[in-house]
Amino acid sequence: EASRDATDWENVLQAAAQFAKEELGDDRSGHDWWHTHRVVTMARKLSRLEGADQRLSAAAAWLHDVADEKLNPSKEAGLQKVKNWLEEQPISEVDSRHIMEIISTMSYNAGSNPPMRTLEGKVVQDADRLDAIGAIAIARTFVYAGWKGDPIYDPDIEPRISMTSEEYRNGKSPAVNHFYEKLLKLKDLMNTATARSIAEERHRYMEEFLARFHIEWSGE
Ligand code: ADP
Ligand code: NI
Repeated sequence: EASRDATDWENVLQAAAQFAKEELGDDRSGHDWWHTHRVVTMARKLSRLEGADQRLSAAAAWLHDVADEKLNPSKEAGLQKVKNWLEEQPISEVDSRHIMEIISTMSYNAGSNPPMRTLEGKVVQDADRLDAIGAIAIARTFVYAGWKGDPIYDPDIEPRISMTSEEYRNGKSPAVNHFYEKLLKLKDLMNTATARSIAEERHRYMEEFLARFHIEWSGE
């Protein structure tokens, strides 16, 4: 597209990284700037391998958690903040709307959001979800639980394998339960073949971690 070629993407992406740093830099809930940085790197790689527009994916990835409702007064307030920022950028209306569509619909939401419409959306959602499974995901989950004041584990509280998005949003679960309630489901929810194959391996690693966790818990 002509509009896309006219965009100085290098500048826009640099500004997006800076904006994300200002907004998320000192986050301690596992959604900090380095989470976003990893999602951008993965989104670029998936875009390359899946044939998506790398620059648009990278822009959406930089902005995806700035609007997170957990880190803002409301979902609307978070999205408005990103919308205002995009309006200041020299990018086309079409690209701006595409980025807003991606970041407003990519959240897990207990698996109840409709599938992402565009390839760029699929890729950015996969990149975010890949950061939620594997070794780093284990660290993030315990950090998040600590941030919220949840315990590591409580054998008296059963994981709730199926939850409505409402229950998911309002519920409190020990960190280990979150693996069963969300993280172990993610590998089957990947949009692209590339992400699926990365997910398989990370998934196995989490299963091994959980097996050892329960062995040590029981004092065997
Ligand atoms: P999304 O980015 O798809 O909206 P979240 O922001 O809810 O997903 O989750 C991102 C990561 O934060 C999860 O993969 C997990 O590591 C951590 N997390 C989110 N909710 C919880 C929870 N209730 N308990 C423990 N960790 C959580
Ligand atoms: Ni994220």
